[in-house]
Order: sequence, then C-alpha cells, then structure tokens
Amino acid sequence: MATTRTNGSALLSEWTRAFPAQLRTGFAAGRALEFRWPRGVDRSVVIGMGGSAIGADLLRSLTDAETDLLLRPVREPTLPRWVGPSTLAVAVSYSGDTWETLSAFNEAGRRGAPRLAVSSGGQLQERARREGVPHLLVPGGIAPRAALGYLLGGLLGLFDPAFPASNRDRLDKASKVLGSRTEDLATPSGAPAQLAGRIGRRLPWICTSQDLAPVARRWSTQIEENAKRLALWDVLPESLHNALVGWDALSREEAGRYFVLQLEGASEEDGVRERFDYLSSLLARKRVPVAPIQFTAVDRLERMLCAVQWGDHLSLAFARLGGVDPLPVEAIGRMKRQLEAGGPARRPPAGG
Ligand code: F6R
Repeated sequence: MATTRTNGSALLSEWTRAFPAQLRTGFAAGRALEFRWPRGVDRSVVIGMGGSAIGADLLRSLTDAETDLLLRPVREPTLPRWVGPSTLAVAVSYSGDTWETLSAFNEAGRRGAPRLAVSSGGQLQERARREGVPHLLVPGGIAPRAALGYLLGGLLGLFDPAFPASNRDRLDKASKVLGSRTEDLATPSGAPAQLAGRIGRRLPWICTSQDLAPVARRWSTQIEENAKRLALWDVLPESLHNALVGWDALSREEAGRYFVLQLEGASEEDGVRERFDYLSSLLARKRVPVAPIQFTAVDRLERMLCAVQWGDHLSLAFARLGGVDPLPVEAIGRMKRQLEAGGPARRPPAGG
C-alpha cells in the first residue's frame, strides 16, 4: 500500500472532520431516493458488517425510542426465520463486496422480502441493478468506518418516513453542533488527546447505559481499527450481573492494566445514575481509574452523534500516541482475501 503514515493520518483526520457534512449529504441522498415503503411492512432488518453495520445500531436506537417500527441489525450471512415479504431488508456495505452482507441480501431476495441496498459500488450495486432493487450510492474512496456520516445519514433519509416527523431539522441542528466542536476535539491538546494520554497502554473498558450502547461499540471498534489495539465495551445495568464479578475479583496488580471510560447519556433513565455510582465506587476501591464522559444534549440524535464524534477523535488520538497509521486495516484485508478467495475479485480498499 503506497499511503505513508502521514498521509493515512491526514486522510483519516480529514474524513473524521467531515462527519457533520457527510451526515447532511447522506440524509439528502437517502430522501432523494424517494423510496416508497411497501404496504404492510412494519419491520426491517438492516444487514451489514463492521463500519457498515454501526449505522444500523444507531438508527435502531432512534426507531426503538420514537417509532413503532421493529428494526433488527443483522451481522450475519443468514437471516432470522421471520424475515419474509413483510420485512424490509436493507443491505449496507460500503465496498459492496462483503461476503456476509451479499449472502444475506441474496437470502432476503429468495424469501421475497422487499429490499434496498446501500454501497459505494461493488457487487451489491451490480446485483441491485440486475434485480431491480433500489440502490443508494454513497461517495467512494474512503475507509468504510470513516464513511459513517454518509451511511447513517443515508439510512436516516431512507427511514425518515417511519418517524412521526422528519428528522431533517434536528439533523441540521445536530450537524451544526458537531461542526462547532470539530476543531476542539481534533487538536492534539484537546480533551480526547488528553484522555488518550491518561489511558496510555491500559486496556480501555467502555461502559455505558442503553442510551449510548451503540456508541460504546463504535468507540471500541474505532480504537481497534484506527489505533490497532483492543478495547472492550459493555452496557449497564446488564454488566452489573456478570462483569461486576470479574471487577470484584481483580487483584491490585491487575487493576493497573485497565482504564474505565464511563459514557453517560440520558440522566433521566431510571436507576442508571445509581448503577454508574455503584460501579464507580467498586472500581475506586480496586484502584481502577475511571473517566466519566458526559453527553448531555436533550435530543437523542444529537446526543448520540456528539458521542460518536468524540470517540472517533479519541481513536485518532490513540493512533497518534501509539505512532501507528490509523488508515490501513491490513488484518481485515488479509482475512477477506483468504476467506473470500474465489469470491469477490476486487481487492478491499486500504481502509477496509
Ligand atoms: C473498514 C471497516 C470494516 C468494514 C467491514 C465491512 O474501514 O470499518 O469494519 O466496514 O470489513 O466491509 P464493508 O463496509 O465494505 O461492507
């Protein structure tokens, strides 16, 4: 791969800064497709992997809270048994060549489910064209995980009719807020860089409540792919019924290996505050460092997007700290080449 470390960091950072603009462009494109919801469809699967899947989780947080639509993200080559003619199946693959996504997309076709496809090209676009499936084309040439604004914005545009009122204005407002924060978050002296410095080589454990659960997943996958190091995530109150036991048993020596990032979202969630406090005091007794990070926007969409943006910049700060190029994810490319040999002929792009 010809991209140098400097180029990789510069590109990733440019794409990350473009998140607010990507969201607006993606949303407009999703709306412009003028997809008509088939009659009788009240549930949906959104199929995708990795950087192309997280948009479905974020969308689901909104649809669960604000609509009657049942939406299930699918990260599998197979579909739940209940997917059929009354389920909308949306396949999202940035490259358009991901095996699991193509396989589930085909399966949805065999089951007679109405379908939609989202990609920057690849086999998914080609199959959609051949089979008369509406296809949303997103701009190509960037790493899938750095195209989240296009993918999520596109999904929000496609699913806009399922909401009681259009998301256009709130997305505009949220993207302005994101835009106003970009420079502070991106600077090497900003809060994400300071936090990355405090964490150092310790293993980050990102815990949150249901409100920001998809964001915690995004933080961990971005740290893994951009900074090339592991990060774990978990959700309260569930983790108080299992992970708590592991934390409780931690020895003094082991405590130094971890750093807990506590993502705090909607404070009105029943009982969540007390549960965060309970965990924090256990961790304090164990001498595990904890950093609470609050996202207080009243609007759910704005809150989620601000938290995604923060984590994306944190992952880049970790990459800088570790001296690694955030762009290439060669391990994923190798896996795809080895497991999909004889499948997609296209070589995955550098960042994907
Ligand atoms: C790479 C990335 C990966 C890909 C995943 C699926 O930037 O984030 O997680 O998203 O390998 O590939 P696509 O998105 O092309 O379907």
